[in-house]
Amino acid sequence: MPTFETDSVVATRREGDVLVMTIDNPPVNALGVAVRRGLKQAIEQAGADAQVKAVLIVGAGRAFIAGADIREFGKPPQPPSLPEVCNLIEACAKPVVAAIHGPALGGGLEVAMSAHYRLALPAAKLGLPEVTLGLLPGAGGTQRAPRLMGARAAAELMLSGKPMSARAAQAAGLVDRLAEGEDAVQAGLAYARELLDQQAPVRRARELDVADKAAALAELDVVQADTAKKSRGLFSPLKIVECVRNAVELPFDDGLARERALFLQCVESPQRAGLVHAFFAERETAKVPESKAARPRALDTVAVVGGGTMGAGIAVCVLDAGLPVTMIERDAESIARGRANVEKVYDGLIARGRMTPEAKAAVMARYAGSTSYDDIAGADLVIEAVFEDVGVKQAVFKELDRVCKPGAVLATNTSYLDIDAIAAATSRPQDVVGLHFFSPANIMKLLEIVVPAKVSADVVATAFELARKLKKTPVRAGVCDGFIGNRILAVYRQAADDIMEDGATPYEVDEAVRDFGFAMGPYQVVDLAGGDIGWATRKRRAATRDPRARYVEISDRLCERGWFGQKTRRGYYLYPEGARTGQPDPEVLAIVQAERAKKGIAPRKFTQDEIVRRCMAAMINEGANVVHEGIALRPLDVDVVLLSGYGFPRHHGGPMKYADRVGLDKVLADIREFAKQDALFWKPSPLIEKLVAQGNNFDSLNKGA
Ligand code: 3HC
Ligand code: NAI
Repeated sequence: MPTFETDSVVATRREGDVLVMTIDNPPVNALGVAVRRGLKQAIEQAGADAQVKAVLIVGAGRAFIAGADIREFGKPPQPPSLPEVCNLIEACAKPVVAAIHGPALGGGLEVAMSAHYRLALPAAKLGLPEVTLGLLPGAGGTQRAPRLMGARAAAELMLSGKPMSARAAQAAGLVDRLAEGEDAVQAGLAYARELLDQQAPVRRARELDVADKAAALAELDVVQADTAKKSRGLFSPLKIVECVRNAVELPFDDGLARERALFLQCVESPQRAGLVHAFFAERETAKVPESKAARPRALDTVAVVGGGTMGAGIAVCVLDAGLPVTMIERDAESIARGRANVEKVYDGLIARGRMTPEAKAAVMARYAGSTSYDDIAGADLVIEAVFEDVGVKQAVFKELDRVCKPGAVLATNTSYLDIDAIAAATSRPQDVVGLHFFSPANIMKLLEIVVPAKVSADVVATAFELARKLKKTPVRAGVCDGFIGNRILAVYRQAADDIMEDGATPYEVDEAVRDFGFAMGPYQVVDLAGGDIGWATRKRRAATRDPRARYVEISDRLCERGWFGQKTRRGYYLYPEGARTGQPDPEVLAIVQAERAKKGIAPRKFTQDEIVRRCMAAMINEGANVVHEGIALRPLDVDVVLLSGYGFPRHHGGPMKYADRVGLDKVLADIREFAKQDALFWKPSPLIEKLVAQGNNFDSLNKGA
């Protein structure tokens, strides 16, 4: 049987009269230049070889094709382009079958849609996730998908970015045939031979028309209005709708040309750069020195101490990962509440039809509650989530030291406390690590893995392995007050408070921050989290606060009145019965004004631009300090913390990526300007000063690490 030599990432072999083209470009068969060249050669050979009657395209390894090679965006394009390759596949005079056994995403699905027939195996995932990278499908996807599945369904596939299962794709018309098993070659060959036996014609998506154009256009009007509302400053979603509209109205080649032009606009946009940075950064943070140097310890049984907000949430996410959990509480009443807190999460899922009572029972069978530490003597990992009080935590760790087996990993979920001091309460500080989950712990992706001085590398590696099992985004952090995220948050809040006291209303601050892309402004967040939490922290720190530092008391005035936010129906905003969002409160404005008067501050106007510049400069400066002090490994680690734990707008890529785009010299100039008013708060980070002097940016440090 002849084997045609093409580029090694696309192997071809003939099985009878079917040419099998296998894309083999680990890890996910991304469509880099070598693959595009290989596909072009292979399809040309298939056309030229008279013995070939049909073509089968498959992917080696776990993916069919995960899309364009994201690393190539922003670099000079190298021929052949993906649209050219897709057009060649579609133009082939012999039937082309794509057999999909894993992810067929973005350009991968575009390749499949250029084939004439599509077969999917059970593990197939078909999607057009370009929107999540600030792009639109740029290799004919916006023109072929509406012709295959209808305009509205295609638009929704592209706008959601979410993949479909094989079955759903078949129901939508994207897939022609389902097959069982995992062997794409075998199933694909059987299908190709069947098509040959039936003398099935080549069937090109480009030759189809979108069904019922008038209805499709009316539906797109609705989709467009909805997208305009939801996309909040994002560039590519409305361009996607425009492309789908073109698919309905224009001839295929005109629609394709327009798609290309809009795709290139997306590639050039800073949003694409920010979103691609976020994609890679989220994968980079898991690569830490300890995971390279040491193997994780066993991680089969987990205990959680404390069954409050965090303990229960952590228990849920450990249970969801399929592990057994034993929860320890102070007394019978508390453990009953702890169990109820866990059950409440699953009952909520049942109420929304997303879980069956049987499935809940199966999960809860892995849960045990106890008031005796002896019951967790055999746990591989213990996560403490009791009150934020170093004395209480040290007492818990003494108990853990007494009962836990040698080698057990002992973790604390503290938000601010000194983990070295907690570790010192045990005789085994090498086993103590910080696992800082975010609330709600079963939902939020971020997990700060806090590395105290004496911890051993395999414990840190175990923490990263836990993150993988829990499907969290782990970021390594050093010990300091607030670690990476809360430390930066505190400075951002201080900048916002200063702006408020100097003249802006809290509502103006929130609006400016929302317009920048956050879902909520800082004062909405306070109201959501509960003003009392920050108040307790401020009281705890009062004794150690630098007496020269500016302290804005407005939040304290609100808390003294019992205005803790949503839970008390009043905070920075009013939450009248039945209101879904907060409403501005004239009494709050009066309090703000009284505080200004007390300090002799004549209020001044702030533009949205100045509010954003101040808030961002504060975050960026503290982010730089965090890197400078080695608390974060790289600027990208800071970005991932803010993106996955604090709602930083993803299309900006995180504060450090945003700073690079604005220009570090401009950020430094802002900081120096603001320092004229408050030199203590606006002290430029030595790292920013160094990078500006060198003409470098934060990203230079990401690459070096
Ligand atoms: N290009 C380059 N590298 C990619 C990639 C891509 N499209 N997709 C994944 N990778 C890399 C990852 O960075 C990672 O590298 P690392 O090991 O060095 O960190 C490695 O492949 C494995 O990826 P994951 O860790 O994400 O593996 P999973 O098994 O968890 O997930 C996946 C696999 C579902 C395919 C996931 O990687 C994914 O969603 N990839 C991106 C898919 C995508 O967005 N495609 C659209 C691209 S844009 C496009 O196609 C434009 C076109 O319309 C013209
Ligand atoms: P919580 O008050 O809701 O729960 C604490 C629980 O610990 C209570 O159920 C209490 O009965 C139990 N507990 C107290 N002492 C105990 C002991 N000696 N033995 C066993 N159980 C004991 O508090 P929350 O919000 O769950 O916080 C817990 C920890 O998580 C704190 O360190 C906090 O800083 C941290 N954290 C909190 C976040 C949040 O948003 N609430 C976010 C991230 C971390």
